[in-house]
Amino acid sequence: MIGVVGMGFVGLTTSVGLALKGHTVLGYDKDRNKVDQISRGIAPFYEDDFDKALSQVLGEKFQVVDRLEKLTRKSDVIFICVGTPSTPEGISLSSLYDSIQQIIGLLDNYTVLVIKSTVPPGVSMEIARMMEERGLFAGKQIGLVNNPEFLREGIALKDFLEPGRIVIGEYDKRSGDIVERVYESFDASIWRVSLTTAEFVKYLSNTLLSTMISFSNEMATFAEALGDGDIDVKTAYKILHQDGRWYGNPAPMISYVWPGCGFGGYCLPKDTYAMIKRGENLGLEMKLLKAVLEINSHRKKHLVDLMERRLGGIKGKTVAVLGLSFKPDTDDVRDTPSAGIIQELIERGAEVIVYDPLAAGNFKESYDFRIDYTDSAEEAIKSADGVFIATAWKDFRGIGEVFPEKVIVDGRYL
Ligand SMILES: NC(=O)c1ccc[n+]([C@@H]2O[C@H](COP(=O)([O-])OP(=O)(O)OC[C@H]3O[C@@H](n4cnc5c(N)ncnc54)[C@H](O)[C@@H]3O)[C@@H](O)[C@H]2O)c1
Repeated sequence: MIGVVGMGFVGLTTSVGLALKGHTVLGYDKDRNKVDQISRGIAPFYEDDFDKALSQVLGEKFQVVDRLEKLTRKSDVIFICVGTPSTPEGISLSSLYDSIQQIIGLLDNYTVLVIKSTVPPGVSMEIARMMEERGLFAGKQIGLVNNPEFLREGIALKDFLEPGRIVIGEYDKRSGDIVERVYESFDASIWRVSLTTAEFVKYLSNTLLSTMISFSNEMATFAEALGDGDIDVKTAYKILHQDGRWYGNPAPMISYVWPGCGFGGYCLPKDTYAMIKRGENLGLEMKLLKAVLEINSHRKKHLVDLMERRLGGIKGKTVAVLGLSFKPDTDDVRDTPSAGIIQELIERGAEVIVYDPLAAGNFKESYDFRIDYTDSAEEAIKSADGVFIATAWKDFRGIGEVFPEKVIVDGRYL
């Protein structure tokens, strides 16, 4: 038996979706009017055909109850789908904490709590600690999972039933196994990850979307400031969408949504900077693009900080930088992130030794650094305390296994 607490967009959709998949579901909401309305087959929100699906399962596979204990008594798994609204401090978790306190006060059997409400990274682990204070140890007397929801309002039920990916952030394996069984009839890839990774994935997804929207709006603002009608904004965006990198499975565009040492090369830094300046001429502050360059520059410092921390200080240490070109399969070193990284390492007093399969010659000509060049990655690694992977050359894959004793900062997540 599955319980769902909170009968809003997410909770009711989860209830109806799981019931359509053959589970027996009990729903509860603290709002009596909502409970009444749902029990009469009327969803508290509009979505095409949702009421039809609701009436299909209502009474049979799905019931909505007016008291929480009716749900906690019978459920093996409880999905918590209460609201987590925005506040000036960030986000209100009071409904979430209240509902969990109420639920755990009523449990007398091992039950898995599944947090489906969106919560910032770290909150599910705080909940585990909160439960411990009440004498319930996650992984022992109680199960705990974070299972973020990615549905879109308007097509919520379809998104729930055909999710593409299901993320199960688990405190322990037993909890994860139980929740995976709930989803066993779904045709989607299932990702078993830590509680905090699951929370992070949800924000990773939504903040990418918000960033893309703000990006689109900042650029449209530029187009409109240039002169009304000079730029056909709609057509320009349609042409943008024709970039072949958006299409395919996986779409090649995913390689741009991957962390690394920052972008470099001839075009991205130069064109972003030019656009910021052109905006200034029009009296516009291109805030997002400025932030884009700032983050790009700060990223190198951050990775060198990581190296410094892992080495326990960097002054006088030797660091091998593997990769000098701005991306693999080219010898182009213009604006390469490797230069920024080397600069930062030198400023902090490190000795730098470098290797690149193709770009060493160009690098030597373009940058006046006092560094040593080697003919192989092995040679560089052997004489170094720390190893920095700065370009995603295929040859650098797996060096962590070959040199397990070395401190490696893999700036390309190879
Ligand atoms: N709406 C979306 O598109 C969407 C998509 C993905 C994730 N989310 C996340 O899912 C969560 C729920 O979103 P929603 O849109 O369904 O919210 P909602 O406001 O529509 O519904 C939340 C429900 O929880 C109920 N509730 C609050 N405290 C309760 C308690 N202590 N006990 C029982 N019920 C309680 C409220 O009465 C309300 O009906 C949020 O964290 C949200 O960020 C929403």
